[in-house]
Amino acid sequence: MTTSNSLSQDQLKTLVGQAALQYVVPGEIVGVGTGSTVNKFIDALATMKDSIRGAVSSSVASTERLRALGITVFDANEVESLSVYIDGADEIDGKGFMVKGGGAALTREKIVAALARRFVCIADESKLVDVLGQFPLPVEVIPMAAAQIQRRFEAMGGQATLRQKDGLPLVTDNGQHILDVRGLAIRDPLAFESSVNQWPGVITVGVFAHQKASLCLLGTAQGVRTLEF
Ligand code: 5RP
Repeated sequence: MTTSNSLSQDQLKTLVGQAALQYVVPGEIVGVGTGSTVNKFIDALATMKDSIRGAVSSSVASTERLRALGITVFDANEVESLSVYIDGADEIDGKGFMVKGGGAALTREKIVAALARRFVCIADESKLVDVLGQFPLPVEVIPMAAAQIQRRFEAMGGQATLRQKDGLPLVTDNGQHILDVRGLAIRDPLAFESSVNQWPGVITVGVFAHQKASLCLLGTAQGVRTLEF
């Protein structure tokens, strides 16, 4: 798919994945997210693997990719803080608030992001939106609460469906399920995140407002734009 001029979405992802290397601090451990854009970053990170201590990863998939490239992966419990966490997004707005979880890794992503002083979001320009909510909002839930959480979203105008994989409910790295909620316009991401996170059975809502991006490297036809928040 070609997004802008001659650069495909895949090329834009490569561009920002490589650009993120400048935020990796030599001698330290870097926080690593999940997804196709992050995969480009992981591939680029391998070129400087001897100058970092390693990574804390937000998913089994990223851990496997990091290890296959010879990068040491630390457990999040072994690390008190990180200078930087680098991850993609499904949507990002002009304030650095994001929707994440398209890859079902939102809970671990929020945990690793919370360890980091800086969140560097890497995304192609299709992810930049005015108002969050066009991308179906992922919510990780405890299975026995899924139906009541679906009803609560319906009451606020959303349609929540259980994410499927191979004809069965998708099971996350944490052994839980994902609801994808369509039809929401999230105009106050901070309040929305705080509120939905209180619902019984919600593990993590995919709005990253309290753990928003500090900056975004946005892949565009003109090159990488840096947005600071
Ligand atoms: C995974 C995520 C990803 O960061 C998000 O889905 C973006 O993925 P991609 O880079 O493949 O577009 O939140 O849970």
